[in-house]
Amino acid sequence: MQIDEAFSLDGRVALITGSTRGIGAAIAQEFAEAGAEVIVTGRRQQDADAAAERLVAAGGQARGIAYEASQRGAGSALIEALSGRLSRLDILVNNAAILRPHRIEKLSEEEFDEIFAVNTRAAIFLCKAALPLLRNSDGASVVNITAACGHRPMAGIGAYCASKAALLNLSSTLAQEWARDGIRVNALTPGSVATEMILPKDPAQRESFEREMAEQNLMQRLAEPREIARAVRFLASPAASFVTGQTLVVDGGFLAC
Ligand SMILES: NC(=O)c1ccc[n+]([C@@H]2O[C@H](COP(=O)([O-])OP(=O)(O)OC[C@H]3O[C@@H](n4cnc5c(N)ncnc54)[C@H](OP(=O)(O)O)[C@@H]3O)[C@@H](O)[C@H]2O)c1
Repeated sequence: MQIDEAFSLDGRVALITGSTRGIGAAIAQEFAEAGAEVIVTGRRQQDADAAAERLVAAGGQARGIAYEASQRGAGSALIEALSGRLSRLDILVNNAAILRPHRIEKLSEEEFDEIFAVNTRAAIFLCKAALPLLRNSDGASVVNITAACGHRPMAGIGAYCASKAALLNLSSTLAQEWARDGIRVNALTPGSVATEMILPKDPAQRESFEREMAEQNLMQRLAEPREIARAVRFLASPAASFVTGQTLVVDGGFLAC
């Protein structure tokens, strides 16, 4: 196999949750450029459609579909909506997540439930719902986007960290249970990435925030979403055909500090 072929996603069908913006949108762009047919999701149909249209305008194959991850049954509803149009799914990226910063003494049970519903439950039950379509692929790949704080907890975002730690753990279980079906399951752990999720809304605070975050990793900067997307592409591609049950850490050396 040539090196280009090993990283190609030509003809692959990929579903990426939370791909209207941020890291998910960068993954969608990376996949579309690698030749995949991309299914973009966001909570609102119009935003998913707009993100898909941007990929099509750039020469890719994409379509949008609404997906609200906090609802029970969201995964099976999404797969049911797609099943009429898809006979198989080659790549599933569970990327949608919410942060909701709070110290534990300020955290409500409702917020805790919402964080775990979106970040953990939805990802696992979307995997479960997608299993029949993944089984129809010749070498499917699931990538669950976790977070460095799922490895090393951080004050102020404890529920988010715990939800990602649970997703890391469950990814390994899925890898063990699904290898016999030829389905690879890996986690990808980003460090700090310049997206709406973490950047202050007030532009005046942005520079000092970025400086503070940059000091926490060896590369002394935040990642751009595309730097995460390229690593996800590796896990989704034939180049990673013997990689399963792993966590690929793309954190500029945060966990090595
Ligand atoms: N940014 C970082 O520094 C960082 C670090 C470590 C890990 N991560 C992880 O990387 C992934 C992407 O993060 P990001 O920074 O790109 O986040 P982001 O900019 O906030 O984007 C989040 C995406 O998820 C979607 N989303 C939000 N709530 C949702 C819900 N309830 N149901 C369905 N979709 C929902 C959003 O779409 P709509 O608004 O259109 O619904 C959007 O496309 C997440 O798993 C995050 O935990 C990020």
